Formats: sequence, C-alpha cells, structure tokens
Amino acid sequence: MGFSRRDFVKASVLGAVAAGVGSQAKEDPRTSQAHPAASDSRAPQAYSAASDSCAPQANSPKLPIIVCANNGFAYLESAFAFLKSGGDTLDAALQVVKGPEDDPEDDSVGLGGLPNEEGIVELDACCMHGPSRRAGSVGGVRNIKNVSLVAKAVMRHTGHVMLVGEGAERFAVAMGFPRENLLTEHSRKIWMLWKEFHSNNDWWGPGIADPSWQPPVLKPEGRPQSELWKQRVRKMQARATEIDIPAEHQMAAIRKVLFPPSGTIHCSALNGKGEISGCTTTSGLAFKLPGRCGDSPIIGAGCYTDQDIGSAGATGSGEENIKVAGAHTIVENMRHGMSPQEAGMDALKRIVRNYNGDMNKLRFMDMTYYVLRTDGAYAGVSLWQGYSTGNPHKIAVHDGRLRAEETVSLYKGWSQEFPPVPELP
Ligand code: GLY
Repeated sequence: MGFSRRDFVKASVLGAVAAGVGSQAKEDPRTSQAHPAASDSRAPQAYSAASDSCAPQANSPKLPIIVCANNGFAYLESAFAFLKSGGDTLDAALQVVKGPEDDPEDDSVGLGGLPNEEGIVELDACCMHGPSRRAGSVGGVRNIKNVSLVAKAVMRHTGHVMLVGEGAERFAVAMGFPRENLLTEHSRKIWMLWKEFHSNNDWWGPGIADPSWQPPVLKPEGRPQSELWKQRVRKMQARATEIDIPAEHQMAAIRKVLFPPSGTIHCSALNGKGEISGCTTTSGLAFKLPGRCGDSPIIGAGCYTDQDIGSAGATGSGEENIKVAGAHTIVENMRHGMSPQEAGMDALKRIVRNYNGDMNKLRFMDMTYYVLRTDGAYAGVSLWQGYSTGNPHKIAVHDGRLRAEETVSLYKGWSQEFPPVPELP
C-alpha cells in the first residue's frame, strides 16, 4: 500500500516532523540523549511542588508589577513607567503587546504575522479589565494590525464581548483603525516555502487529538530516518534559495515550516492599588485553515482576569489550551489556594491528561502560562523547557527591576527539537 496524501494529512502538518523522527524513538535526540522524557511517559518531570520557587514567600512580591511573554521584554520599561505614574492596568498591558503588534520583524503577532494557508494574515486578541470586570475580544480579523486595541474597543464601545471576522474588521474601521496589508515579504516567503513543501499535505484531516492519530512512517527503504530527514531539509534549503530567502534566515524559515508556530504575546499588569488586567494577542497558528480561532481570543483560555484573584494568559498550542480553559482554570486554582506556579502546573497536567501522558503526541505540542496573583506573586510555567535547545521559554517581569526568567517546565526537554540536521552550505 502506498503512502497516500490522506495518510499523511491525518497527522496534520506536525506529521511532517513525525515522519522524520516520530517513528524511530532511538533517533530522536531527546529520547536517546539529553532528554529521556520525550519518549517515556513515566520519565521524571522537571517540576516538583517542593521547588515552587515562584510561591509568594519565595519571591517577595512587589507592586506594581507587569509580567508578559518574553517577546514583550523591550516594551516593559515604558509600560512600567506608565503604570507607576497612575496609568490604567489594562492600558499598561496593551502598551506592551502593541509593541510586537507594530513590529514587522515579529512574525507571531500583528503586522508581519505568519498567515493562514491562503497567505492571509488573520489576527486574534482579547482583554480583560479587572477593576471594571469587563472583557473584549476579536477573532479572525484581517487587515487591522492592533487587534488588542480593537478588543478593548469592543469592550468599551459595544454591548458585546466578542466580534469575529468581517464584522470585527468593519467595526475596527468604524472605530478609526486603519486597514493595511499585514503580510510582509518575510512572512510571505516563509508561507511560500510552506506552501511548496506542503503541496501534498496541510491542516485538513483529523488532527493530533483524533484517537486514531499515529505519527506517520515514511517508507525508509533501508535508509535510516536521519538520512531521510537530512534529505528533506536539503530539499527545503534548495526551495528556500529559489524563493530568495536569505541564507542566514533559511534554517529559521525551515523550522517554521516544519513546526508551524503559534507564537503569541500575553501581558498582565497589577498596580499599587491591587487593580489587575490582562490581554493576549496573536496571529495564531501559522498556515491555519482560514477562520480558525485559537485560544488567544477566547476569554478563559488565552487570558482570564478576576479582580478578586489574579490574571493568567497563555502562549502555545491553542487547541490544547481551549480544551482545558487554561487561563480560567489557573485563576480558579488560585482562588482555591494554589500558588501561581501550582495553579499553572495543574493546567499543564490537564493537557497531559487529555492525552493520557502519551509522549508520542505531547512532544508535538507546547504551552506556556503566565500567572500573576493580586498580591504580586507570579509564575511562568511551560509544558517543555522551550522549542529548541538553547531557546528556553521565558517570562518577562518588571516590578521595578526588569528581567526575563526561564519558566518552570513540567517536562525536561524541548518540544520542537530538530533531529540531526545537515550543515548549511
Ligand atoms: N496560542 C495561539 C494560537 O494557538 O493561536
């Protein structure tokens, strides 16, 4: 029986990765070398409650404080000054996330975000204002860069909480947001590489959550998987050259094609009066089906803020986070007495539970939670240490001292680690 498109597509785009590494655990560097957790659901976890270092007694909370995903680091200083001088908590958080939304170099958010499968950028965002207990959200918005601000406009200027698609875009234009082309040349070329590489397989078909999902196996014809993998990467390098992706950016582009990112930014801000707000914004999962909404615009998944308790937000695998209502779960966990770190870890464990701890699936997803309690205690937790060796997940924090801290991960290892790759020519 041949290896049909349908067989391959069943595994979603991630199957492209699995095809190279998933069926041969011995060749996965995470299973054979540094990170035994990747193939063994009984493997030791990085996290232990006993080392809950972000518990309030351990990190002496200070107010005001802003926490965010690390792609907001560059914008924290001015947002913190704004917050300290009496600025509203939601406006401070929005100041942070607007930075990456405006930045064409950040291909996970706003202008220059990686597009859907048709090459069109579609953005999602939501916000919650703790003091007034209000929320706003937009999903699948095209042509408008600052969707986090559109979410705030929905909150302030409508009787609704969520607008999607064309209606959300028309609302944004009515509110004075300019329409603009969000697809940069950088993102267009990565999309083109994805399009050409995946001309035979895409996001259609049952995904990783389907019970019958298996990492697909390419016929190795006697050759080791690592050799097939190298061939695959070389082929992509050749395509990348034809598409005019500069040599120094080719490996990053190939990584994005093989591991479609769902990069996002979340930010929560707490002022000296104990007022707290949060927001999350994203271009969503790269190369998604048009109309796909991830977790970021879902109140309770991508972001949740309760003035009585705290705020939480997420970056990572949106589909997984929606199923555990991650941000809401975390805030409720804190309401019932868990520390920020324990609360976040519990949400991660719910994702693990949804897959019965099956590492053949869990290693193809990742999730980071950013948690802030109203007393200033905070935590950054993630399923894996990072996407690739040397790039750990980080939470950026400003409480008078600006810093980025590595998240505490549930599992040791990296969710999107390459198997051995050939040197670039
Ligand atoms: N977490 C962003 C997304 O999945 O869309």
